[in-house]
Amino acid sequence: MKKISSSKVQDFEIKHANLIRKYSPESMVLLKNNHVLPLNEVKTIALYGNGARNTIKGGTGSGDVNVRHFTTIEEGIENAGLTINSKDWLDQYTNFKRHYDDDFYTKLRTKAKKAGKNPFLMMMGKAPLEPDYDISINTNEKADAAIYVLARISGEGADRKIASGDLKLTKTEKHDILTLSKNYQKFVLILNVGGMVELEEIKDRIPAILLVSQLGMETGNAVADVLLGKAYPSGKLAMTWAPIENYASTKNFNKLDDVRYKEGIYVGYRYFDSFNIKPTYEFGYGLGYTKFKINPKLVDVNEKELSMKAEVKNTGCFSGKEVIEVYVSKPNDKIVQTYQTLIGYQKTNELAAGQSETIEFTLPTSELASYSTKDAQYKLFAGDYYLRVGNSSHNTHIVAKINIDKDVVLSQLQNLGGKTDFTDIKPNVPPYSYLAETKEKKNAPVIKLLAENFKTQEVDYEEEKVGKIESTEKYTWNDVLNKKINVFDFVKSLSVEQASYLLTGNYDFDQIGGSDSVIGSASQTIAGAAGETTHHLKDLNVPILIMADGPAGIRLSPIYTITKDGEVKSLSSSFKEGLDTDKGKNKNSDQVKYYQYCSAIPIGTAIAQSWNNKVAEIYGDIIGQEMEIFGIDIWLAPALNIQRSPLDGRDFEYYSEDPLVSGLNAAYITKGVQKHLGKTTTIKHFAANNQETNRMFANSMINERALREIYLHNFEIAVKLGKPHAVMSSYNLINGVHAANNKDTLTKILRNEWGFNGFVMTDWLTTASFIPNEGTKYSHSSPTKCIISGNDMIMPGLKSDTQDILNSYKKGKITREQINRAAKHILNVIYELSLR
Ligand code: BGC
Repeated sequence: MKKISSSKVQDFEIKHANLIRKYSPESMVLLKNNHVLPLNEVKTIALYGNGARNTIKGGTGSGDVNVRHFTTIEEGIENAGLTINSKDWLDQYTNFKRHYDDDFYTKLRTKAKKAGKNPFLMMMGKAPLEPDYDISINTNEKADAAIYVLARISGEGADRKIASGDLKLTKTEKHDILTLSKNYQKFVLILNVGGMVELEEIKDRIPAILLVSQLGMETGNAVADVLLGKAYPSGKLAMTWAPIENYASTKNFNKLDDVRYKEGIYVGYRYFDSFNIKPTYEFGYGLGYTKFKINPKLVDVNEKELSMKAEVKNTGCFSGKEVIEVYVSKPNDKIVQTYQTLIGYQKTNELAAGQSETIEFTLPTSELASYSTKDAQYKLFAGDYYLRVGNSSHNTHIVAKINIDKDVVLSQLQNLGGKTDFTDIKPNVPPYSYLAETKEKKNAPVIKLLAENFKTQEVDYEEEKVGKIESTEKYTWNDVLNKKINVFDFVKSLSVEQASYLLTGNYDFDQIGGSDSVIGSASQTIAGAAGETTHHLKDLNVPILIMADGPAGIRLSPIYTITKDGEVKSLSSSFKEGLDTDKGKNKNSDQVKYYQYCSAIPIGTAIAQSWNNKVAEIYGDIIGQEMEIFGIDIWLAPALNIQRSPLDGRDFEYYSEDPLVSGLNAAYITKGVQKHLGKTTTIKHFAANNQETNRMFANSMINERALREIYLHNFEIAVKLGKPHAVMSSYNLINGVHAANNKDTLTKILRNEWGFNGFVMTDWLTTASFIPNEGTKYSHSSPTKCIISGNDMIMPGLKSDTQDILNSYKKGKITREQINRAAKHILNVIYELSLR
């Protein structure tokens, strides 16, 4: 790591910007195109909408990245050499919106002060709804095409709203979009949104809709490339789009204390298809500038793998990439099932017009299994499994029928994760179907699997043995590095105080405000990094691991200095940016300045929309390189919670409503990061963290089958395939137990069932009693219970955490063995990262 003391653009910034621009079109989803795109022979554009100049590169909160600059859509269009004839409108809108937003934040700040509340906590994630306004668009101006950019922003700390200006379009927006659509032959609605917006009312009255999403620093340039046909969109939706009242979760979302996940396994397309509700745009849907023909060739299945080939031919006249999606419909006579479940997908390489490629799939047969709560088993129930192949969840054909003669027990587990007070909904109508389905089922080639050929996997739930507890030997970390002793000998040589220090992040504050900003930038070594491991074992040479946020890049302070006392000091605020009234306080012109301009990659949802694991890996590689440059060891990303509802304010950070898509993206971005020596990821937030309302004290109530098949399966895939070294537990409770205090999920499932051997950290301040919880049913998580249940480190670390652990130790409520076990998990990672 070298400190960058020049403010000039660095080579890596250019290289990464080019890569992001190149891969961004893979995340754009063309929702509709009646011969408008790509725009040919256009010179002048009529550009309108709240995202045209105020383009959104990603959401707010710890997931926001402090970039040097990002291209807006207005800039991108001008960079491409086109003229914009609606500058007046853009100026007027910008001016209006600046005042509107200032007013909104000033009122919020005043309200917080009056109520004696911490303004930072109270304002977190809050954004004004897009208002109505009276700025007329000028359709008399001649332009070759019109573009309306509709933007929405959300972020950590608040959920989205069922209101115009958020999920719904405002009157002004609808009016302006339809006016432009009427007056210009070539009109494109661009969606610069992190999640769903309702389009039912207008979609049939406009010729082209391009979901651009939020693509980070090259958003504007990448949009111009796609509009002008220098690149083509090849993304598909990773979440179903429909009016919000049609989602199964809407009725049971956003509850303050107990959130009942009554929809069970019927999340996203699993619900829409099984209950035959027509979405606006289905899961897996997306057009391109060309067309493809998919010809599935060979299917073969054994007890371990399902292999398949499909020939994909570009039958149109433009280059493109296609995604091949594989779904299964399972027998449902013994246990309710979803109409279909995604079990695999792959994207082709770029295919020129007329070109073909044969895609080969190898998928684990275990993806066909279902969890039977009654006997705590993952099972392949006897019967017929229909394999469906296509390019969207509603455009598939049955390619084979796999028949299993008797029930197979794939794994014998324990009933874990707690209980609810309700039973899940069940479909009461025939599912979605299409004309040829019955015939396809009848004609499908049959492949038989015999139950007797399968083996049942047993899990060892025994407590991890850590051997002798304390020793009188004295060692330093060098003895571990020189292989004189192993990590555990070192742990045993520590005093209980030393071992306990390891179990929290580094601290020298005990209150929010004691440090500049504890959430999001508690590191003392790297300006703006979110946290770091303890300094208390420095004299024993134990290295310190630095953690920085993501997932849309690395979140650091862009400018910092080092004070005379050697203290690192941000010169630009990080998490509190825009909230500080006292803007001048950080200005200090004589100090040497250092620069940390990190690249903003597309948001999680956009990466998932690429349906291309290679793309996720490339973004991981970019992050890994920048971690090397800026001295970050652990990236606090990817975030892979399930998009249970479009209302979740952090959905933009997450990948998908589907566990397979979520898990694979997390695994591949981790692989990309881990190509870099000593660098790793933290998969977060484990688990069932699906709303921001009362985020630290909300209880996700989920029946075990849904918990395992939906909310944990994504993490299972990420752990097994990506092998990250860290997991972050979530703020919420799971069936009444804090995720950070939950032995079932943290030890029995994560370690015993899945074999995770890194360390688990809490989310920031989950144990902090100074975070207000008055008026809510549940309280904070307990530091001692964190350690006992398998949450090895408490972040960002408070003196009260260490005190709690030591007091409990004195009272016999936690054993030295339990402390050692957590310390060992942490030191193992410190050791492994220093080897890599
Ligand atoms: C967020 C985490 C983040 C952490 C550190 C928390 O508020 O929930 O996702 O990693 O802060 O900034």
